[in-house]
Amino acid sequence: MAWPVLVGERMTLRPPTDGDAAALLGILTEPEVSRWWVGYTADRVRKEIIESGDALVMEIDGIPAGTIFLYPHDDAEYEHVIIHLFLGALWYRKRYGAEALAMAINHLVSEGHHRFTLDPNVNNAPAIRSYERLGFRRVGVLREYQLRSDGSWDDGLLMDLVTSDFAGELDWKRG
Ligand SMILES: CC(C)(COP(=O)(O)OP(=O)(O)OC[C@H]1O[C@@H](n2cnc3c(N)ncnc32)[C@H](O)[C@@H]1OP(=O)(O)O)[C@@H](O)C(=O)NCCC(=O)NCCS
Repeated sequence: MAWPVLVGERMTLRPPTDGDAAALLGILTEPEVSRWWVGYTADRVRKEIIESGDALVMEIDGIPAGTIFLYPHDDAEYEHVIIHLFLGALWYRKRYGAEALAMAINHLVSEGHHRFTLDPNVNNAPAIRSYERLGFRRVGVLREYQLRSDGSWDDGLLMDLVTSDFAGELDWKRG
């Protein structure tokens, strides 16, 4: 899918360019981020972000601050969009994650989508807190969901949000 540039109050979501690769790899190798986003290399950044067509860069004050991934499920009967995101530690605790989610979800709703899922690690309390404040609900535990670098498996938490959970536009300041 071709994603547009979305301009919000404090950030822009835009398609990635080659020039973003080094900054995004730098963020993905920060200890606070690589704890949850395991094993990123320059090759993975190129394939999964720069060239995939599934990712939008979160640009804050002209700087690439993170990435949001949008995976619409291609089956009208079970229509939903899987979302993943990461932000550099410099921008934590300022609700930029919620802002990026609200911008992407409002755009996807305008395109006819109605259900959105996230799957944070069960131990990722800041992420779960951020998503619940925005209105996402806990669906259940995804057992042995994420492979860690030591070969062990961590559980994930499936969370979802549907358009009937909010009225009008989803507001990142809610909660
Ligand atoms: C998860 C993430 C997107 C949340 O976005 P955010 O914009 O920082 O979220 P918020 O500003 O709403 O912060 C969420 C809550 O967690 C707390 N928090 C945020 N980062 C934290 C951290 N590293 N350690 C402890 N608490 C943290 C905040 O204080 C806030 O709680 P509050 O109610 O006291 O304000 C972002 O922190 C991030 O990218 N983290 C690293 C990668 C990651 O975990 N990605 C998600 C994978 S599903």
